[in-house]
Amino acid sequence: MIIAIDGPSGAGKSTIAKLVSKNLNFEYIDTGAMYRALAYKAFKNNIPIIDEKIDKMLKTTKIDYLNNSIYLDDEVVDDYIRSENISKIASMISSLGNVRLKMVDLQRSISNNKNVILDGRDIGTNVFPNADYKFFITASVEERAKRRYNELVDKGICVSYDTVLQDIKLRDYNDSSRQIAPLKIADDAIIIDNTNMSIQDIQNKIISIVSEGL
Ligand code: C5P
Repeated sequence: MIIAIDGPSGAGKSTIAKLVSKNLNFEYIDTGAMYRALAYKAFKNNIPIIDEKIDKMLKTTKIDYLNNSIYLDDEVVDDYIRSENISKIASMISSLGNVRLKMVDLQRSISNNKNVILDGRDIGTNVFPNADYKFFITASVEERAKRRYNELVDKGICVSYDTVLQDIKLRDYNDSSRQIAPLKIADDAIIIDNTNMSIQDIQNKIISIVSEGL
């Protein structure tokens, strides 16, 4: 069974997908981490985000996702891919055609013959258009920025709310306006706006819908 969870940045998709995967005993696949790992490699090696250079990088790059960890060229890079800088580069690199082809192939092959829940931007529209369940999780841009801002402040990172808000707006724009597999709501997706909903409520809602089909 495939459960697709799509939505904009900072909507809480990964938190929810992880909780639901544990509850249903499904494997969880964080597809954003794959784009982030590529962004990290480009950043580390000073590679500009243009087709020609990134195509070359892809030829010698191996991405794996195993036991909730992301591997870049056989090394776990979970701890290096969550910064604001890598978020911005990931949003840029994910618009390149060959990047998407390679990541979508990987997402399909690691999901083969398993019960999986994947979160991303194009899972229900492009990676698995025939997914058993599709959820589109969203929240107002101000609420998403507020959550992200609080998260950064809790980590001791000094940033202004306005900068976080502008960054999220830019990522929303990049993700929804790119030519290949943009962020959009699949026709048959169940939309959950969690601006005023707790994580527990969303988790319960998804589990009750999916449990009917198990
Ligand atoms: O979900 P997360 O914020 O970790 O994703 C990082 C970036 O990767 C997103 O801003 C988006 O541009 C890209 N992405 C994508 N397609 C996916 C998952 C993520 O384009 N399926």
